[in-house]
Amino acid sequence: MLILGIESSCDDAAAAVIETERAGEVRVRASAVANQDEIHRRYGGVVPELASRNHVVTILPVIWQALESAGCGLRDLDGIAVTRGPGLVGSLLVGLMCAKGIAQASGLPLIGVNHIEGHLLAPLLEHRVPMPFLALVVSGGHTALFVVEDFGHYRMLGQTRDDAAGEAFDKVAKLMRLGYPGGRIIDQLARRGNRKRVRLPRARVKGAPLDFSFSGIKTAVASFVASEAGAATAPEDLAASFQEAVADMLVRPTIAAARETAADTIAVTGGVAANSRLRERLAEAAAAEGRRLVAPSINFCTDNAAMIALAGSYRLMRGERDPLAIDAEANLAL
Ligand code: KG4
Ligand code: ZN
Repeated sequence: MLILGIESSCDDAAAAVIETERAGEVRVRASAVANQDEIHRRYGGVVPELASRNHVVTILPVIWQALESAGCGLRDLDGIAVTRGPGLVGSLLVGLMCAKGIAQASGLPLIGVNHIEGHLLAPLLEHRVPMPFLALVVSGGHTALFVVEDFGHYRMLGQTRDDAAGEAFDKVAKLMRLGYPGGRIIDQLARRGNRKRVRLPRARVKGAPLDFSFSGIKTAVASFVASEAGAATAPEDLAASFQEAVADMLVRPTIAAARETAADTIAVTGGVAANSRLRERLAEAAAAEGRRLVAPSINFCTDNAAMIALAGSYRLMRGERDPLAIDAEANLAL
């Protein structure tokens, strides 16, 4: 099956073409992303109206770019998968309406996909992962642990009680005046820093060992930055110490969850899964437990449309399709 995926839930407009086989083989034929970092940089965060207005401009070019590099036309496709939530509603609507238009004109079946399901299945784009597997989803909007039992069967084991891990990276980068987007900058800066230089708290949620909390560390970094010690500390040391604290707070519940499940494989996915130190720490911790860590390559950790196409593919393979009347849902539940 050849499937076109379309994703526009936040600030990236993305399109991809993937090829799937019944046996579970997946081949990404093309994956294109129109990034908006330049546009949001001066505001230090995603401005929803600007995001959706830019999607209006870039969505069709990015779709044609994906089709062209995949070497196929609409006629060759078997279906269209599009993100319908959760996300910024104005952003979602652009991709969704574009997908509907193409589906209507071509007669192709349309499948609306949950963005989180896309992240959960992204590890399967490049790796053969036996189910069930444990998945840590860490992005700008979500931080949660799931057992992926089968396509369409996801059991949440724990989640953040406040901020997402990516939000903590972005907010800390902002208050350290490092620039935007924060996560990647902290990752790069931290490579030159001393992880033990600044002592930061590791939050645990009382009575819920598989849940996360990241609002405390953000506040701790804010008051450290404002202190005398903060002024005397090199930014790379603070970045490394912060990143290590976040990694600790992600690794502990993940390993606790792995011990509770029969899964041999731990997958980490979502934008923060691009973090080099987190990947290193999780790989070490997984190996110590006799489990395998699977992480998508960086382009499939951050928002992309290949994962959306894959999430739509199993429903298309069953012959399912959604009505053209489906709506975008900012808080779509998995
Ligand atoms: O999955 P994603 O692209 O979009 C959402 O669905 O949220 O994730 C974006 C998040 C941002 O918070 C960004 O700062 C973070 O992922 N991020 C990183 C890295 N690359 C992206 N965080 C830490 N280290 C990175 N290398
Ligand atoms: Zn995402």
